[in-house]
Amino acid sequence: MLKKIRLLGEDIQKRLGSITSLMVEIISGVTDMKLFKMGQVVTKRYFRQNEVLTNQIIKRISKLSQVEAINFFWSSFNFLGILIIGLIMIKSGKTDLSTVIAVITLQNNITFMFLNIGIFVNNIQSALASTNVILTVLNEEPESNSEENKDVSHIATYTQEMISLNNVSFSYDNKKSILSNANLNINEGENIVVIGPSGCGKTTLFKLLMGFYKKTAGEIIINHKEISNYTLGDLRNITAYVSQDAFMFEGTIRENIQFGKMNATDTEIIKAAQMANAHNFIMELPEGYNTRIGINGMGLSGGQKQRIAIARAILKDAPILLLDEATAALDSENEDIVQHALNVLMKGKTVITIAHKLQTIQNADNVYMLKDGTFEAQCISKLQTN
Ligand SMILES: Nc1ncnc2c1ncn2[C@@H]1O[C@H](COP(=O)(O)OP(=O)(O)O)[C@@H](O)[C@H]1O
Ligand SMILES: [Mg+2]
Repeated sequence: MLKKIRLLGEDIQKRLGSITSLMVEIISGVTDMKLFKMGQVVTKRYFRQNEVLTNQIIKRISKLSQVEAINFFWSSFNFLGILIIGLIMIKSGKTDLSTVIAVITLQNNITFMFLNIGIFVNNIQSALASTNVILTVLNEEPESNSEENKDVSHIATYTQEMISLNNVSFSYDNKKSILSNANLNINEGENIVVIGPSGCGKTTLFKLLMGFYKKTAGEIIINHKEISNYTLGDLRNITAYVSQDAFMFEGTIRENIQFGKMNATDTEIIKAAQMANAHNFIMELPEGYNTRIGINGMGLSGGQKQRIAIARAILKDAPILLLDEATAALDSENEDIVQHALNVLMKGKTVITIAHKLQTIQNADNVYMLKDGTFEAQCISKLQTN
């Protein structure tokens, strides 16, 4: 019984842990939250996890009450036993009432002590369960975030590629593999497009490149350095990411653009907005750059949000640009405007575009189809005639 309670305790701690990390994800989310396409999914996941947690807590309480009931039964039994024996002994003149009362009081104290031991053991059990979880976390290998473990032996061997995947495999759950022995080489300044059916792992490729997940096997070389030798900060500094539904937080338009470079001056912000074709519509807003937008960009159209996201990325000026169906959610008029802004952003950068429209493919240096976990080079002219 106690073991069951402890196991339940462990399970509850684990679930509490995952709910907490889910909350952290939601709160610290911003780009990540959108990158992971959370929103409703997260809320659903949160409710689901909460429901299971509640059930486990109820189960644990019911087991605990069983233990307490047994304890209570035993102590009542003891009390009754002593009372009956005491009465018999008083009747036969072997003892007197005061002794019996003294014995009962003492016995009560002892029972109380043992009951407390029960509670104490329960507390220890749940503490042990928490300790287990804490130790598991402490024993986790930290995300490689230090500069110490740079493996210099790699550096000499790589050539001009900006991004290179060598036999990379990845799975979220160790069952279904998303990438399996995938190879991909992208030269500096090259502009490649990745196509493939929904769910084949295109966004996952970006998540790996941004260090949100670690590859299961193989090497990912970015700018001549293996990805695990980067600090997460450095890795995210060299990549800019634009998804189809850019994250806007509650605040002014200026702040939303500045997000790309926290110490940017007003001139830099305006220049980035001009390049992203966003300056004009911003100036038409009642308070220009000081116009406040609601959470998730309420008050802006999809195309306007995308242009702000592009201005943000222009300001960031990272050498690697990851575009995840950045125009997919737009109507064709907005799509053209945003595509123009994207073209400005792409200049001089190494770009991976995830696309499903042929229009995007026209300017690509290479097109790859992600299929069964590997990248297949496509013949561009053939794609265009199809
Ligand atoms: N965080 C995650 N945990 C588990 N599975 C995931 C996660 N994100 C995506 N997947 C699964 O991985 C597969 C590839 O997803 P994704 O890279 O988003 O596909 P694409 O961008 O090509 O549409 C899908 O089957 C998806 O359900
Ligand atoms: Mg995707």
